[in-house]
Amino acid sequence: MNPSTPRRYDWLSQFFHWATALAVVAAYVVEPHGFKRLLRQGLDPAASSSVLWHESLGILVLVLTLLRLLWLAVRPAPPQLEMAGWTQRAARLTHLALWGLVLLTPLAALLTLAGKDAPLTLLGGLRLQELPWIAHSALSRLLDWGDVHEVLGNTLLLVAGAHAAAALYHQFVLGDGVLTAMLPGRRRG
Ligand code: HEM
Ligand code: HEM
Repeated sequence: MNPSTPRRYDWLSQFFHWATALAVVAAYVVEPHGFKRLLRQGLDPAASSSVLWHESLGILVLVLTLLRLLWLAVRPAPPQLEMAGWTQRAARLTHLALWGLVLLTPLAALLTLAGKDAPLTLLGGLRLQELPWIAHSALSRLLDWGDVHEVLGNTLLLVAGAHAAAALYHQFVLGDGVLTAMLPGRRRG
């Protein structure tokens, strides 16, 4: 590789990557128990701490992703890793799918809340009784966004799992330094 070509992502891209990955897995693990039951009983879903945690971690994913997209537009050149053509294309397609899923999963969740007239409740007592723009909108009533959100959340975990397995295979079987590119260290070799 040309010594002037970066070998790693810049530190902010690395921070966004690992913080998002952690928040996605944590949101997935902390399922919002009792959300539907509490709503059916006319009770506040925020009475369930798992709902509070799930919504807070999910909103963290959305905020990190929006900041990360801004950074993507101005950041230094990412590494151009030497891989077979089809592997490059597969990696690009997977990244595209992951970008789409980390954006759409939380957005479908917000439509779920709007469609069920449920508040958005976050840790620290932050609460939005009605979501601006989408509360009472035709879009939020179009379908059961809770089901869409669940499918997107499960797909995100599946695609991220395949992506992580590919990164580990590249690093430890092919030995091409793909994982190193997302880990701290000197950017140029
Ligand atoms: C990337 C982030 C997220 C992931 C991976 C994720 C994943 C999931 C999954 C897998 C379920 C189904 C749980 C089950 O019933 O077995 C679910 C439900 C739910 N999530 Fe998320 N979620 C995320 C973000 C959010 C956000 C940002 C919010 C709210 C602002 C949210 C609110 C909810 C609610 C209210 C439900 C229950 C929906 C229903 O039963 O109709 N989630 N989530
Ligand atoms: C929910 C979890 C994850 C999401 C959403 C995710 C998403 C992404 C995205 C969008 C990129 C492109 C980065 C950019 O252009 O700035 C990327 C790169 C990368 N990710 Fe992940 N990732 C996740 C988990 C993981 C895990 C667990 C590993 C390792 C075990 C990993 C290893 C890598 C590596 C090595 C790269 C850079 C190499 C490449 O170009 O593929 N990721 N990831």
